[in-house]
Amino acid sequence: MILCKTISDLTKVLSAKKAFNQTIGFVPTMGALHAGHLSLVKQAKQKSTCVVCSIFVNPTQFNQQSDLVNYPKTIDIDLKLLAESECDVVFIPSTDEIYPTGLQKMDASVLGSLTTVFEGAFRPGHFDGVYTVLTRLFDLVEPNLVYFGQKDFQQCLLVQKLIEFQQLPITFCMGDIVREKDGLAMSSRNIRLNSAERKAATEIYKALSLIKDNWHKSAASELIAIAKNQLELQQLIQIEYLNCVDANTLQVAEDIKNGVCLIAVNCGNTRLIDNVLLP
Ligand code: PAJ
Repeated sequence: MILCKTISDLTKVLSAKKAFNQTIGFVPTMGALHAGHLSLVKQAKQKSTCVVCSIFVNPTQFNQQSDLVNYPKTIDIDLKLLAESECDVVFIPSTDEIYPTGLQKMDASVLGSLTTVFEGAFRPGHFDGVYTVLTRLFDLVEPNLVYFGQKDFQQCLLVQKLIEFQQLPITFCMGDIVREKDGLAMSSRNIRLNSAERKAATEIYKALSLIKDNWHKSAASELIAIAKNQLELQQLIQIEYLNCVDANTLQVAEDIKNGVCLIAVNCGNTRLIDNVLLP
């Protein structure tokens, strides 16, 4: 595995790979890697001759300074896990490399209304930061394929829109959500949960499963109300949103054909998101 810390190193390594017509599969991450990230590397490996993974904790997508400061950093373990997963190139740039002229953000609202609802509404500026960093990373890596997790469903839609809007020759691939045995979606933030919060957090997937398993059996509004009631019994959990929407537009519809149920909660001081596709 080749480690690149600068853009000039990365460009050298990738131009040699591209000269041999290698297919570049790209997995952008913020590190603190877990099996969810590694499943994307594995999928990239199947369709690309060169897998590039970036580790960059992007300051512009954090809407709270404390969240950025407390974001877990486990770089030595990350490198070991990536090498074991047969990642070919890992890119770990500094903030100056990515933002040479300062932390200006692009405006993600050009990608449409899906950037202003749910995560866009609860984390103002978050998607501007994601849009900015991915535009930069895609420009540097010039991947043929990119891999993103369904765990961040709204982010997946944003990436698809970005590719379309900027007319990039990139194939978008979405990986399934990797979960702990008890159903909790893996997240770099899970290590911040204490044992009582970790236990309460298992209720998130139970609430989503209740909705998914009873979809078409009861009205969506009824299922959402039951799931909310069930979650609200957990004193450590505060719901930010829980709703079933159209999976392409993220708009509420009367009769959802291709739907997704999205949830965000605060579990203690840790914000967690999850979702399920509706049958
Ligand atoms: P990060 O949270 O590190 O996630 C990197 C990728 O791993 C994302 O595509 C995310 O959806 C995926 N992922 C996270 N948890 C997962 C799980 N349990 N199962 C499957 N995939 C999972 O998302 C970001 O970083 C950043 O916003 C980034 C795209 C890197 C831009 O800064």
